[in-house]
Amino acid sequence: MTNGDLPADIRDGVRVYASRLESFVREVAWHAEIGSTNDTALMLAERGAPEGTVVGADLQTAGRGRRGRSWASPPGAGLYVSVVLRPDARTVPLVTIAAGVAVADAIGEAIGLAAVLKWPNDVYLGGRKVAGILAEAGSSHAGVHHIVLGVGVNVGRASYPPEVAARATSLEHEVGRPVDRGLVLGCCLAALGARYREAGSDPPHVLAAWRRYAESMLRRPVTCHVGGGTVSGIAAGIDDQGALLVRAGADTVRVVSGEVIWH
Ligand code: BTN
Repeated sequence: MTNGDLPADIRDGVRVYASRLESFVREVAWHAEIGSTNDTALMLAERGAPEGTVVGADLQTAGRGRRGRSWASPPGAGLYVSVVLRPDARTVPLVTIAAGVAVADAIGEAIGLAAVLKWPNDVYLGGRKVAGILAEAGSSHAGVHHIVLGVGVNVGRASYPPEVAARATSLEHEVGRPVDRGLVLGCCLAALGARYREAGSDPPHVLAAWRRYAESMLRRPVTCHVGGGTVSGIAAGIDDQGALLVRAGADTVRVVSGEVIWH
């Protein structure tokens, strides 16, 4: 693993988890400022960057969230990282589920807080969102498919835009003490490596972990905007492909992607 010129806290955090990162992380490239770490990682993946290439930044000027939203990425407040993955076809559907589980694992291990997952992989603490994951697929000229997994974690208290502040929280706010973003990064990458491997070798284990983290969200009313339509019902769980199951009257609807509003 080559680390180039990393900020001291990031370098130290990666060192602490070095033995667990060895078989997964190939290179960590850090930027003081970037448009979007996902865009840069997608570009590197298209040019053939290997699985385990990590792109991180202190601040993003064009951070992207799911469903075309922006992701507020102020300096010194969060972790903004993207990882290049090259999963086999069987693992692809479980990549985002595995990523959510990994971030929840890392928050438990590094901070000692019990995170909750909302489908597909929003990470919540104290009823407010603390981390989000954006998985984007691409293919290179050689036709090799890749996924870039972007993870944004709110680490410190920051001035987020008001519409974000009302719905968001940070690790420091929830734990009530300063949090070392380098340790959070190291722990997230270690957990991601482990859960990603597991998604390939033992999918039921990853699915069971996701269901445990999402337990408090299940059996809750949801509205899903899928394609052109809307499905309202009760969240019943996820199937073996990671799709959300919504019980709507006598039917169970399988939601693969779309906007889900939890009531
Ligand atoms: C969401 O909408 O919940 C997903 C947010 C994902 C944000 C991360 S920050 C690092 C990476 N780069 C981006 O532009 N987005 C992701």
